[in-house]
Amino acid sequence: MDKTFVISYQEYRGLAELPEADRCLMEMAFKAAEGAYAPYSGFHVGAALRLADGTIVCGNNQENAAYPSGLCAERTAIFSASSMRPELRDYEALAIVGVNPQGQRCEASPCGACRQVLMEYEKLQQHPMRVLCYVGEECVRVFRSVADLLPFAFGM
Ligand code: THU
Repeated sequence: MDKTFVISYQEYRGLAELPEADRCLMEMAFKAAEGAYAPYSGFHVGAALRLADGTIVCGNNQENAAYPSGLCAERTAIFSASSMRPELRDYEALAIVGVNPQGQRCEASPCGACRQVLMEYEKLQQHPMRVLCYVGEECVRVFRSVADLLPFAFGM
């Protein structure tokens, strides 16, 4: 039997079109990208996570000479939030942005491992965490939940 899985998401025509709080989260992610440690790829990723009380926790990618030992921006941000604020594992939205080796803003989309990690926290909090991805100057994609980014997830 053939079945079809449809993902619904929102697209905004640039940062200016986003609601104020989301635009601010995106800009904080760009600020966070500046602090990435990415001497190997030159690709700087920034993530900004908004907690239920309005606190924002940022992260960026941290690379290592032993490549797989590094960590993506999204996991740096959410592990940091979860470790610093264990009493508030309640995440409203995560903004993810990229800056290429030429220093230009560019598309960022969470890798599979990050989706799996984000999914665990979404399941824990029992309500959706929005995911905002910078695509380009004229496009921002907003997913209403991590589950939309990882259908048929392991362990869920
Ligand atoms: N990276 C992230 O930070 N997030 C992702 O979702 C994908 C990739 C980082 C890892 C590595 O430091 C660089 O981007 C190039 O892959």
